[in-house]
Amino acid sequence: QDGPAFLPAPQPRFDGVDLQALAARLGTPLYAYSANAIRQRIRELQQALHGLDATVCYAVKANSNRAILELMATAGLGADIVSAGELRRALDAGIPAARIVFSGVGKTEQEIDAALDAGIARFNVESLDELRAIERVAGARGATARAAVRVNPDVDALTHAKISTGRAENKFGVSIAEARDWFAERGQLRHVRLDGLHVHIGSQILDLKPFRLALHRVAAFWRELVQAGHPVASIDVGGGLGVRYRAGHDQAVAAADYVGVIREALAGFDGRLLLEPGRWLVAEAGVLLTRVLRIKHGGERDFLVLDAAMNDLQRPSLYDAWHDIVPASTQTRPLATYDIVGPVCETGDTFARGRTLRACEPGDLLVIQGTGAYGASMASTYNSRPLAAEALLDGGRYALVRRRQSHQEMVAGEQSAQDWETP
Ligand code: LLP
Repeated sequence: QDGPAFLPAPQPRFDGVDLQALAARLGTPLYAYSANAIRQRIRELQQALHGLDATVCYAVKANSNRAILELMATAGLGADIVSAGELRRALDAGIPAARIVFSGVGKTEQEIDAALDAGIARFNVESLDELRAIERVAGARGATARAAVRVNPDVDALTHAKISTGRAENKFGVSIAEARDWFAERGQLRHVRLDGLHVHIGSQILDLKPFRLALHRVAAFWRELVQAGHPVASIDVGGGLGVRYRAGHDQAVAAADYVGVIREALAGFDGRLLLEPGRWLVAEAGVLLTRVLRIKHGGERDFLVLDAAMNDLQRPSLYDAWHDIVPASTQTRPLATYDIVGPVCETGDTFARGRTLRACEPGDLLVIQGTGAYGASMASTYNSRPLAAEALLDGGRYALVRRRQSHQEMVAGEQSAQDWETP
């Protein structure tokens, strides 16, 4: 049950664009992103970082649409990537390799090779086995890879368990004790220059205390390394800044407050700072437009069945995430309470339970807010539902930045089992 109702306002427009007209033009479900909202976040972060040697590497996984990456490239941002696919997207969008960092626990040798070929800035290394793989692949190319060790500071990020990454029990990073050994033996690495630290403790973090605690642990380790004569050229503080999903309940972390924590914890550090925000830059700059297909009066509850489903936006079913859902129309109607669901054949295909909003009719346009991050980038074609279209809005105009997937595109690559072979 969603709890007492604070009624968020209807949303007829976004970035100067009439959402009813947009949905009529492009159909639903449709993701719409505000270029100005993204630029605003970038500016806020860059202003907070003023005077620091800092590079913002946008976490591509949050929203990897080409047009979004081009906005980041234009603003001078780099990229935090986790696969060869994200590497290609970032490069294709014009993000220079020198501003790309590569994170993730399962980089393959092919991916390491592709990243070296492109000349990325550095690898955020998550295990000894990976460090050895990078040494091997770089050696075969006669290249030198730059690397940071991802330390796991064993801090509770106070967020959803599925997006918490900085506890010792999580698969990410290595303990400070292990990282210490890596540095002690760094002289044996011929093709890896290990001279950076990386930390990322989780996502949708609204409380600055876990950030402060993690950064203080990293700072103590950096000072210890310098004392021992090791170089620390960069500290990557990861991403994780939280945003507002629920009007009247939460508030996005202010860039100035967050950067204040970094300035305080890493005071005296004279190398390069790297930041990897994803969600904070794009989440509130996106909405998912969807129409009410029908209203079903069940025995116990009333269901609002939408034309968007869990395949388009997984966050509610995966993390029980809250997204405000408001009408595009400002028409006044009595209030009603619904379970808001999609057409997919699973009970988990639920966007909200017991949600109060203005009574709906079939055909009404609804706006699912805060869906610019981890929406389209996590979509699937489950139930053979083609991927939704995406549009970028900019001061009253729109551009289609991903056309709605056709059935042909969805099934491309599949074929009948005809050409049988033995491996
Ligand atoms: N850096 C690393 C190493 C990461 O693993 C992540 C996110 C980020 C940066 C960006 O974090 P952000 O600033 O966006 O919080 N699908 C989930 C979120 C998963 C985050 C995974 N890693 C969700 O929808 O809530």
